[in-house]
Amino acid sequence: MLNSMMKTKIFAWVDRRTDAGAIIKSQLTEYPAPKNLNYMWNFGSLALLVLVLQILTGVFLAMYYKPSAAVSYGQYTVAFDSVERIMRDVNFGWLIRYMHAVGASAFFVVVYMHIGRGLYYGSYKEPRELLWIIGVVILLIMQGAAFFGYLLPWGQMSFWGATVITNLFGALPVIGEYLQQLLRGGFAVGDPTLNRFFSLHYLFPLLLAAIVGGHIHALHVVHSNNPEGIDLTKEEEKIMFHPYYTVKDAFGVGVFLLFYCYFVFFNPHAWGYFIEVDNYVPANALSTPPHIAPVWYLTPWYTILRSFPDKLVGVLAMGGSLAILFALPFLDRSKVRSARYRPVFKQMVILFFIDVIVLGYCGHEPPTPVLKLVGQVATAYYFAFFFLLLIVPKFEKTKPEPEGI
Ligand code: HEM
Repeated sequence: MLNSMMKTKIFAWVDRRTDAGAIIKSQLTEYPAPKNLNYMWNFGSLALLVLVLQILTGVFLAMYYKPSAAVSYGQYTVAFDSVERIMRDVNFGWLIRYMHAVGASAFFVVVYMHIGRGLYYGSYKEPRELLWIIGVVILLIMQGAAFFGYLLPWGQMSFWGATVITNLFGALPVIGEYLQQLLRGGFAVGDPTLNRFFSLHYLFPLLLAAIVGGHIHALHVVHSNNPEGIDLTKEEEKIMFHPYYTVKDAFGVGVFLLFYCYFVFFNPHAWGYFIEVDNYVPANALSTPPHIAPVWYLTPWYTILRSFPDKLVGVLAMGGSLAILFALPFLDRSKVRSARYRPVFKQMVILFFIDVIVLGYCGHEPPTPVLKLVGQVATAYYFAFFFLLLIVPKFEKTKPEPEGI
């Protein structure tokens, strides 16, 4: 055991060579934060926690997981078998797998709340445009990582989900077919696909970790927005990050862990297809499941894709619905940030949140004519929201913002 004297000496040694003390002080303990941040500001630190959990549990899973579609004994493949071995034979394998599977959904819950907060309080607006843009890059990488990971158990849903999504790339003109084959490593989803998806599934979270570093650096240059959405001019409006927000974030972590543990230990299948029944059926290229849908966190975009009869238009709309997020800071020209002081925007953004939930629901269910129509209307509003942002600030009567907080 190091005694505190030793620790101080070691720290002083490191500090002299790295300036670590000053960095910790300015970026963490004494980092000045607005004094009125509400609980919606907890989701950034929670996303960080889940990212770490996903990387840790993923590394342990990879020690036992085998990315091979070769047939092992009988009808099962090596990949499918290795997941079953993790669940049944590896010490605490079931726990690590459930933590990872529930963690994937938890990651999206937390990040979607984080994005929703940014939208509502106008955190994407000047001077935080780049911070937002880095966030959108993070979102795309997260979606990629989740999609690649979903193939790994090599169950029916894994196989057919990957087949449907890689098929989409084939719809793109000129490069489509080439891209599709590049992703699959051949003409159909098979062993080479599994290998490259595993490789990318391991790589993407590490990329995420690096980009999240950039995200937090960008935040610390421009500082946090706040629920009022106003710039802080006086020192009394700020408080030190430690102990005020370390305690508040720790409370958030406690509440989050209650939910997380409930799902990991008592209801691991609740969040959907990752480990649901269809995926306990080994992948079979000769038997298409009656209903193929992505995991809940990708279903809003799946609905946008399905809303157009033409495949290419659907693919472009789906890509466009994500790409338009990059443009958001430049579309919304209102001088006022927070929805608290923007009555029209407030209605629009609340409707947008409901709209994304409706899109998610439609993508999850089999496409009946009614749901298809609902999905099309929801898709129309998704895009209309961004175009309305161009117009609304021209006539919106904003409420007076407070002088300070
Ligand atoms: C792995 C995922 C992510 C992590 C770990 C992360 C982390 C953080 C942290 C720690 C903060 C400061 C605390 C807070 O404001 O909640 C923050 C702020 C912010 N993040 Fe993220 N973030 C992630 C994803 C995203 C995404 C996907 C977006 C947007 C598309 C985004 C946009 C923002 C914005 C605009 C802020 C500033 C908020 C404000 O000051 O009001 N982040 N992020």
